[in-house]
Amino acid sequence: MAMSTSDHYFSSQPTSEHDETTHRIIVRKLEMLLAGDRGVFNKGELDWGTRVLIENAAVPSGGVLLDLGCGSGAIAVALAKLRPDAEVWAVDVNERAIAVTRRTVELNALTNVKVALAHDVPADLRFDGIWSNPPIRIGKDALHELLGHWLNRLADGGSAVLVVHKNLGSDSLAQWLVSQSFAVVRVSSKQGYRVLRVTRT
Ligand SMILES: C[S@@+](CC[C@H](N)C(=O)[O-])C[C@H]1O[C@@H](n2cnc3c(N)ncnc32)[C@H](O)[C@@H]1O
Repeated sequence: MAMSTSDHYFSSQPTSEHDETTHRIIVRKLEMLLAGDRGVFNKGELDWGTRVLIENAAVPSGGVLLDLGCGSGAIAVALAKLRPDAEVWAVDVNERAIAVTRRTVELNALTNVKVALAHDVPADLRFDGIWSNPPIRIGKDALHELLGHWLNRLADGGSAVLVVHKNLGSDSLAQWLVSQSFAVVRVSSKQGYRVLRVTRT
């Protein structure tokens, strides 16, 4: 059997058979190799929303950056290449995504990316910048809990950028963030993908 029907890209331990891939992609004039595997978001192909995020978000300043929900690691690699002086954390709940992102990091010979399961990130670590194509499909309550947790770990002056398609609730997510005392600005909108910049007020 190739695929378990209970597998989601956000399963912590996908059980589907492995099918490792490697894709060469170019985004924001950055060339990168992207590892992939079955049971990991988009199986190593660059998601269109992720491309919109990488190409339209301002490069974060500060020394500690986070790719929240790293999947195959495309965002972490982009951050690490755009900011070679920064320490980039690539975090996911899916153990297979962690293994795939480690392979992506090796393929790109990067030394400034730390790859970790979400619960292994030091509790006192704060982030100057967070970039995420967040896992909308985990459901609204779980998504709010996830974003509430990580956005409250922004360092003073830090900001997050999130890409969410309008058909997947970008506008209601922005409203919820405002209700949680975050400031939200739509910095870009392409083919229905909204890029939201989020800061603490
Ligand atoms: C939409 S995918 C984006 C993957 C990758 N960043 C990209 O842009 O291709 C969202 C990712 O969030 C991860 N995720 C789901 N729940 C999570 C959680 N509680 N903590 C961290 N990551 C989570 C999923 O496993 C998935 O890899």
